[in-house]
Amino acid sequence: MALITAIYGSPRRQGNTSRLLQQAVAGARDQGAAVTEIVLRDIKIAPCMEIYGCTEAGECVIQDGFQPIRDSILASDGIMLASPIFFYTVSAHTKIFMDRCQSLWVKKYWIDDLQKEQWVSKRQGLFISAGATHGKKLFDGALLTVRYFFDVIDTALWRSLLYRGLDFEEDVLEHPDYLEASYTAGQTLATLLNRTT
Ligand SMILES: Cc1cc2nc3c(=O)[nH]c(=O)nc-3n(C[C@H](O)[C@H](O)[C@H](O)COP(=O)(O)O)c2cc1C
Repeated sequence: MALITAIYGSPRRQGNTSRLLQQAVAGARDQGAAVTEIVLRDIKIAPCMEIYGCTEAGECVIQDGFQPIRDSILASDGIMLASPIFFYTVSAHTKIFMDRCQSLWVKKYWIDDLQKEQWVSKRQGLFISAGATHGKKLFDGALLTVRYFFDVIDTALWRSLLYRGLDFEEDVLEHPDYLEASYTAGQTLATLLNRTT
């Protein structure tokens, strides 16, 4: 059975990216995956303090809501991450969590001294995002950040679902095709992971 961690990065509980991710979670569960849902807005996570306490053992020395999420990710075969576009990148909730994963970067590249050519992906990742505007580069910043973050958590960016022109909380409900695509992506990811786990 595939294990998936689904991370909701929007401050809105029922906003566009949350609704899309809920569909992906439903699709994955319908294919038999066990999905742990993490709603970042509900969890107290301090920003990285850049004190590098993690250089001792690769463990972040700030003990808070970060550790259980990290443990869920490390135990998973798949990651689903949803974040709205805020100022051309991911939301602050999402970015604060990503920054705390610097402890994993330190473990991998400084403590274990992994060489880039030794890197292998252990998990597959789905990224879901939405922004209000329509520009060609709307998702460029977030994609760069997500790819680099996924690298740190040994995850290949398997698929991105990126939707323009969504602004108000329920806008995505006017696009059943987007919701359906999310559901299908969740199903497909779970099927893929079921085959390989
Ligand atoms: C702080 C903030 C910054 C935003 N920055 C952008 C932006 O740079 N580009 C854009 O197209 N939309 C921007 N938006 C709009 C959101 O991306 C849009 O409303 C999105 O659908 C919200 O997704 P959610 O409902 O999942 O939170 C911003 C909204 C907020 C609140």
